[in-house]
Amino acid sequence: MPLPEKNNRVIITSALPYANGDLHIGHLLEHVQTDIWVRLLRANNITCHYVCASDAHGTPIMLRAKELETEPEKMVEEFRSSHMKDLESFYISHDNFYITHSEENKYFSELIYNRAKESGFIESKHIEQLFDESAGLFLSDRYVKGTCPKCSAEEQYGDNCEICGAKYEAAELINPVSTISGQKPVVKTSEHVFFKLSELETNVASWMKATPLQEAVKNKLEEWFQQGLKDWDISRDSPYFGFEIPDMPGKYFYVWLDAPIGYIASLENYLRAKNNESAEEIWSETANTEIYHFIGKDIMNFHALFWPALLETSKFKKPSNVFVHGFLGLNGAKMSKSKGNFLSMRDYLDILDADYIRYYLASKLSPSIDDIDLNYDDFQKKVNSDLVGKFVNIASRSAGFLKKNDNQIGTDIDHEFYENFISSKNEITNLFADLEYSKAIKEIMKLADSANAYVDEKKPWILAKDEKNKEEVIKIAGTTINLFRVINTYLKIVIPDTCSKGETFLNEIISSIDDIDTPLTNHKLGSFSPILNRLEDEKLEALIQRGSNG
Ligand code: 2FM
Ligand code: ZN
Repeated sequence: MPLPEKNNRVIITSALPYANGDLHIGHLLEHVQTDIWVRLLRANNITCHYVCASDAHGTPIMLRAKELETEPEKMVEEFRSSHMKDLESFYISHDNFYITHSEENKYFSELIYNRAKESGFIESKHIEQLFDESAGLFLSDRYVKGTCPKCSAEEQYGDNCEICGAKYEAAELINPVSTISGQKPVVKTSEHVFFKLSELETNVASWMKATPLQEAVKNKLEEWFQQGLKDWDISRDSPYFGFEIPDMPGKYFYVWLDAPIGYIASLENYLRAKNNESAEEIWSETANTEIYHFIGKDIMNFHALFWPALLETSKFKKPSNVFVHGFLGLNGAKMSKSKGNFLSMRDYLDILDADYIRYYLASKLSPSIDDIDLNYDDFQKKVNSDLVGKFVNIASRSAGFLKKNDNQIGTDIDHEFYENFISSKNEITNLFADLEYSKAIKEIMKLADSANAYVDEKKPWILAKDEKNKEEVIKIAGTTINLFRVINTYLKIVIPDTCSKGETFLNEIISSIDDIDTPLTNHKLGSFSPILNRLEDEKLEALIQRGSNG
């Protein structure tokens, strides 16, 4: 897949985390995947806007605020600020991290809804739903449990049975109980607003065909098409924390209607403050803009069916691609707070540097939507052997030879070796562009091996014993530092903190991957200090402890 066009505006998003809990390393996987891609584009001089936000609406948020005896507005703001802090600490380079409970999002939600309505894609219907009389709430499927009407398994949720796989309506459950109050719900009728997705099948199908989606994503979407696209219920009854639907008092937009619109709202908020540009223009159907969403595989339908359809009916531009990843497991098991296998981003940061896990996750990521596992032993091994043993080692074993030359790289380096060394630049760039991060990391580590082999073969420590070899030793060390610089440039998009320390040593800020086309000669380096330490057993043990406390 080629990189986006240099002349186009590029918008990149990660899914908006819900503002009712702490971020965990599963969220981090997606943000790292996105951030590497964003940094890759920037390192190739492509202007992109990376926007995200907290997803602030919906029943779970409303109930959580109630539980915490606070106002939802206050709670979501607090979570937004803690999410933002956590993500910044992992060097996730958003241009804006906003919130969906905002004026901008209200404006765009109404605009998009009104345009869909004007073009005839909105209708109201009366539907029957379970209602919890003591809580005064309509119950979505996740708030109802009962006995499966097919196999009689108990304690099954309102949409499908985990035991026999049957799909049903919540009202069909035998002995349904509200998980909010424990009471038996009643059936009640209410008016709901639907988006006529069924009439947009052809349109969404042609978007899908024209979009280079991952194979597994295409296959999943095909399944939905085979069942036929159903109209989508976009309203919820009061009480609900969200935006009230224009001209429909007591009815609110379903959180999944305004959540993706939050991408546009976050961009608007950013661009207005930056140079008073309008997101409406930049996201318009006719703009020279490319839009890329990074998401987990559980929310494919929202991004690859509903979202393109909604954008179509409201004259906004549809995604250029939707990149989907699998879930992150922890030491061979699913992450679960209640089962004591869970690591929040903050817990991790209390113990370890962000770059360790950024590197590890990158080394595992690919365009596949299969799940990924964070295996503690493998994690420690990779960090210590790849980053410390191979990458940092190149600089640490060579810096000393130049110290005697006033930290100065000389006029001459081994150009032939260097030219050969940088010949995989395009291949590595393309691997990253194709989300083949794991393969890219392998290529980079091959280079690190070859740089170390170069030093092993040249044996500057032996040559240095004789003063007459001074020039030769400086040439070898200068070449090696240039090899380190190449790898530092590639890895900068993966482990930015470590590589910025690498730049301090190199005494040079690398702004573009193409900077490596010209090696450093006649250049004074900064003084060397270790840019990354080994991941010690005690620290890993502390992390494992933290991860098993839930
Ligand atoms: O699944 C989730 O965590 C949602 N909060 C993601 C929303 S992404 C976008 F559509 F807003
Ligand atoms: Zn069943």
